Amino acid sequence: MKVLEVEGNVPLLGSVEISGAKNSAVALIPASILCDEEVNLNNVPNISDVDALESILIHLNAEVRRTGESISVNCKNVINNKITEDMSVKLRASYYFMGALLSKFKKVDMYFPGGCSIGSRPINLHLDGFKLMGANIMEDGNHFIMEAPILHGANIDLNFPSVGATINLMLAASKADGETIINNAAKEPEIVNVATFLNNMGAKIRGAGTSTIKIDGVSYLHKCFHEVIPDRIEAGTYAIIGALTGKKLKICGIIEEHLEALLSKLKEMGVKLKVEDNNIIISKSRSYKPINVKTLVFPGFVTDLGQPMSVLLTQANGMSIFEETIYENRMGHVKYLQKLGADIKVSDRTAIITGPTPFIGTEVVATDLRAGAAMVIAGLIAKGTTTIESAEHILRGYENIVEKLTAVGADIKIEEVE
Ligand code: UD1
Repeated sequence: MKVLEVEGNVPLLGSVEISGAKNSAVALIPASILCDEEVNLNNVPNISDVDALESILIHLNAEVRRTGESISVNCKNVINNKITEDMSVKLRASYYFMGALLSKFKKVDMYFPGGCSIGSRPINLHLDGFKLMGANIMEDGNHFIMEAPILHGANIDLNFPSVGATINLMLAASKADGETIINNAAKEPEIVNVATFLNNMGAKIRGAGTSTIKIDGVSYLHKCFHEVIPDRIEAGTYAIIGALTGKKLKICGIIEEHLEALLSKLKEMGVKLKVEDNNIIISKSRSYKPINVKTLVFPGFVTDLGQPMSVLLTQANGMSIFEETIYENRMGHVKYLQKLGADIKVSDRTAIITGPTPFIGTEVVATDLRAGAAMVIAGLIAKGTTTIESAEHILRGYENIVEKLTAVGADIKIEEVE
């Protein structure tokens, strides 16, 4: 197990460079399977979810070269091997191999994906869409074999704008026969990034970023270069850190439109921030107004920043309400915030947070990726040492977090323990 140790209460100044978006990269890498030549992806974050996907590509006989932030994938000799349970459950995004392999080989054999324990996270919308496109699905526990004698276009209505289902269905439709229409599609920036990648290879996708996406299937996809967009969740996490500890902390390489919901909430609280070009400069203020935050699909307040934001709310002057609407179980971090000194009452998916409360460092657990980010933020404002167990969750989504925080003055280290 990995353990992070943070000595808190230190002002942070200097610059943090934002990495490529985890949730884009983890879709783009499986999408590269669709290419009939070689693709090059740039700005790929060095995180353990990317390592796990690289292993799956190699298992499928793809030629993969990774240098720094670039990854080139040649899928000319790809073999449609069964993706083992071990590989499938390592991360949520393994499910993108369902759409990609179905599109390329009309058959896929793999297991239910893993990922953070933040709710039941079914994939019924993905599977229902594949079925409408002609796939037969044999399900045995968590094992899935899908086969489509002819994978064809379909008119698919999602009853929730699921990010995963939207991307998976775009992948499947890219090489299907005829036109697929996805209604009530998700509009997250990662969807646009994946659609742009597929179009760069010769796919015919229109409407990504709106709620109706139309895909005309093609039979061949050619080589291309593509850039992963900046990680809006990582940028938002550092912005929250800046609001709590920053002395003109500069967060570099962001896309402002991707962060609008967060920035408007920070401004509502009274956070001092300035956006210049693609950077945010942010400093801690003496006091903050309490506010209400409700997570929503894009362009609303992103669920992945709910837990980090709840730490900031513990330092506002009065009662704030944090409501999670996407997942059933995004409150795993609350008991550890309470242990550090927070005043939080949880009822179902709503937390009532009363502040400001000083934090005293103690032992806590990263119960999932974003809960782990919340613990790091809490540790940075706590007096004394905060020890965060199960820190490997954090490394799944934050590139070089220890190095980036150390470079701006934090006292933080990571260790492997038995
Ligand atoms: C992706 C992101 C995750 C982010 C989420 C919402 C990846 C790898 N993960 O997760 O970080 O928090 O989008 O922005 O990109 N649902 C169903 N049936 C389905 C699919 C989803 O009921 O078939 C429900 C889920 O249980 C959840 C909600 O829809 O309550 C959102 O899920 P979805 O948008 O699909 O998120 P993920 O793809 O799991």
